Amino acid sequence: MKLLQIDSSARSSSITRKLTAKFVEEWKKNHPAGEVIQRDLSTTLLPHITDDWSGTHLDPSQLTPAQRSYLSTSDQLIEELQAADTIVIGAPMYNFAIPSPLKAWIDQVVRMGKTFGYGPSGARALLSDKKVFVITSRGGAYPKGTPGEKLDFQEPYLRHILGFIGLTDVTFIHAENQAREGAGPSLAAVAEEIARLSAEQGQQVAHRDKERKHI
Ligand SMILES: Cc1cc2nc3c(=O)[nH]c(=O)nc-3n(C[C@H](O)[C@H](O)[C@H](O)COP(=O)(O)O)c2cc1C
Repeated sequence: MKLLQIDSSARSSSITRKLTAKFVEEWKKNHPAGEVIQRDLSTTLLPHITDDWSGTHLDPSQLTPAQRSYLSTSDQLIEELQAADTIVIGAPMYNFAIPSPLKAWIDQVVRMGKTFGYGPSGARALLSDKKVFVITSRGGAYPKGTPGEKLDFQEPYLRHILGFIGLTDVTFIHAENQAREGAGPSLAAVAEEIARLSAEQGQQVAHRDKERKHI
């Protein structure tokens, strides 16, 4: 079993980092032999999309050395994504959306022929069978069914783009009101929820593996 942990906060004392670390700690209890691939986007500086991205539309044998070198980052990030059974993404809310390093990661992994393709009825996703947990932290609160909901450009965007490449089983865990006094208990509650979800997923995976052995 492989877990891909993606952190995108700029802050070393970050709340999302604490919560993804909690998720990983719980996941390891359920998968003692499992492997965790860590991708810290504050220390991995990803390239922006440049003209060399046009190489993604070419046969690999036609790539120039510059295109090959440029695309090697995307190749590696996609390999990490393909190898993972579970993905946990720490996503602070920045300006009502996601941090630019996380957007840069998305730009590198949403790639024609690798994570999506085109069929007779349009675009089709090429990834499947992965469970994703997105842990967000926000200074404010954007609960569903309140006027704040329409200001949340984080969850709708991430749901759409992850689904576009086939990551449709996505659970969001929001740590809200982190800019306000008294956020402590809500953070503890979020950590508890993470522990519960991680344990639950461990049991589901163990059950699925058992079923597969019986086939
Ligand atoms: C550049 C920047 C932009 C932010 N924009 C928002 C925002 O639009 N809405 C909000 O509720 N909080 C906003 N915040 C607050 C963060 O979401 C909050 O501090 C969160 O805990 C950051 O995650 P982290 O602790 O993992 O770094 C912003 C913080 C920063 C640094």
